[in-house]
Amino acid sequence: MHVIAGPSSPVLAERVANDLKVSLAKVTYKRFPDGELYVKLEDRVDRVIVVQSIRSSDDIVYLMLLFDALEDILSKEDITAVIPYMGYARQDRAFNEGEAVSIRAIAEFLETHAEKVVSVNLHSREAASHFKNLVEIDAMPVIGEHYREKDVIMVSPDKGSLERVKVAARIANCEYDYLEKVRIDAETVEIQPKNVDVEGKRVVIVDDIISTGGTIAKAAETMKENGASSVEAACVHAVLAANALNKLYSHGVRKVVATDTVEQPVSVLSVSGTIAEKLRELTG
Ligand code: R5P
Repeated sequence: MHVIAGPSSPVLAERVANDLKVSLAKVTYKRFPDGELYVKLEDRVDRVIVVQSIRSSDDIVYLMLLFDALEDILSKEDITAVIPYMGYARQDRAFNEGEAVSIRAIAEFLETHAEKVVSVNLHSREAASHFKNLVEIDAMPVIGEHYREKDVIMVSPDKGSLERVKVAARIANCEYDYLEKVRIDAETVEIQPKNVDVEGKRVVIVDDIISTGGTIAKAAETMKENGASSVEAACVHAVLAANALNKLYSHGVRKVVATDTVEQPVSVLSVSGTIAEKLRELTG
């Protein structure tokens, strides 16, 4: 058994390999001057776990080429694809006539080449429903562990994410709440914590993804207006599009922590242990 690190997940793949006590297979990835990508498998392998987040179209092409390099050597049953961050999952339905259901195309592609697909906190149930053989991992306990007994209040930016935040808060042993839209009058809608008073408290806004940072920035502003002494943000997938981090800091977020499903400077927590544990169960 080998772990193959895709170019988007080198750190996490190495951590998973270490946790599983298996070797990393050597692979060369490069880009030609015209932009085309190239993959060469340098080691002999029998069974493999490919670890590669999908953040960009290049990440998908690298996976395609990697699966092709494996095609002559292995059968599908020998391949497990670990996609820690599953991009394209937000297009989980055709919102308008004629639109591609992007995650359906990704699911079909992955399941054509890998016997099992493992991912972390997929965007929605709808997105997950396009897979036949998906194993999903919840990273909220990792976030909860980081804040265990730290005297914080965890806040979900909306009711939809509350169930996730509950899991983290239970492990952190802290209070939790969600933000609710309250209509003040015909022109004014305010966002407020539903139940908990955050005055003078250290608040952690917890979400699955930080992409543009707009959701957390708005929530942080609200927490400050409600008297929170400090506001931090924790997420599973630090996608951080454009200048999301600057946006968060300029809206009063003191600190951002994330897991390593997307490898960023703020990815200080690791899901490797959780992934390795699940892989042990799956691969025996
Ligand atoms: C929404 O369903 C997700 O849970 C996140 O709140 C959202 O994807 C965050 O996006 P952004 O950082 O662009 O506001």
